[in-house]
Amino acid sequence: MNWCRADILPLTALDVPGSGDRGSGFAVRPNLESHIPNPEPRTPNLMLAPRLGVRVIQERGLAETSVLVEAYDLEKEYRSGPESLRVLKGVTIGIREREMVSLVGASGVGKSTLLHLLGALERPTSGEIRYGETALSSLSDSALAEFRNRQVGFVFQFHHLLPEFTALENVMLPLLIRRCPAVQARERARTLLGQVGLGERLRHRPGELSGGEQQRVAMVRALVGEPAVLLADEPTGNLDSKTGEETFELLRQLNRERRLTSVIVTHNEALASRADRVLRMLDGRMME
Ligand SMILES: Nc1ncnc2c1ncn2[C@@H]1O[C@H](COP(=O)(O)OP(=O)(O)OP(=O)(O)O)[C@@H](O)[C@H]1O
Ligand SMILES: [Mg+2]
Repeated sequence: MNWCRADILPLTALDVPGSGDRGSGFAVRPNLESHIPNPEPRTPNLMLAPRLGVRVIQERGLAETSVLVEAYDLEKEYRSGPESLRVLKGVTIGIREREMVSLVGASGVGKSTLLHLLGALERPTSGEIRYGETALSSLSDSALAEFRNRQVGFVFQFHHLLPEFTALENVMLPLLIRRCPAVQARERARTLLGQVGLGERLRHRPGELSGGEQQRVAMVRALVGEPAVLLADEPTGNLDSKTGEETFELLRQLNRERRLTSVIVTHNEALASRADRVLRMLDGRMME
């Protein structure tokens, strides 16, 4: 999916270059560009992959429904010297399109590990993850990085925003990485930040934002490229209960309005129960 297509970012919605918040013409700070990797050749694998979408699976015992993300028998083992630690011990899940799933379980059961595998941040030791017809194991490291940039939005417990850049620049970055023209990236980032009530905070750096505001910027950054899936690892874990509740509600709203498939890890049972489905983990496995 090309995120700079005119139908997605209509030119009529763009400011005249030079009238933006930076005054005279768009200028990405030189060191912002240093965060953008060199363009890599597009992999035939990814380009030929059918559009992500509906895949009816029956053979795995899942209902006849649209499944966007499938994980089969995932195992993850960490090795350090002679020691090895089996963290995931055969996890099989299917997540439907537009579904909001919460993932709960005691500390150390493997929730973050599973999320990292689903988000293509790490590879499983064995097992397979499919997004539609795309098997992640078939992608080279560079194709996996591109897949991540285009299909997955990640929100972490601690926002992981780049401290030296403004809210606007942090949100623009995923689009710049995919070679979106800067003027379009800026406009889209500005629009989305406005939609989450941060229109007056565009030029604030993360250190000049409250915890809830930082997390909203992180959410917008995760969503700016319209990923297929939003993965959030304890996005409310670092916030007071009211701000955490508001943040979770925003996720719920985004899931409904943007029909965004979402997986949210949380320790908060009350929030977890607001999702469409609660997945529970116990010692590296899913509880049925
Ligand atoms: N890179 C790693 N190398 C070795 N062990 C790891 C690594 N990452 C995680 N682990 C171990 O894997 C286990 C599961 O970790 P994980 O972060 O997935 O747990 P979690 O369910 O997210 O816990 P929490 O709720 O505390 O965030 C832990 O025992 C952890 O120490
Ligand atoms: Mg965790």
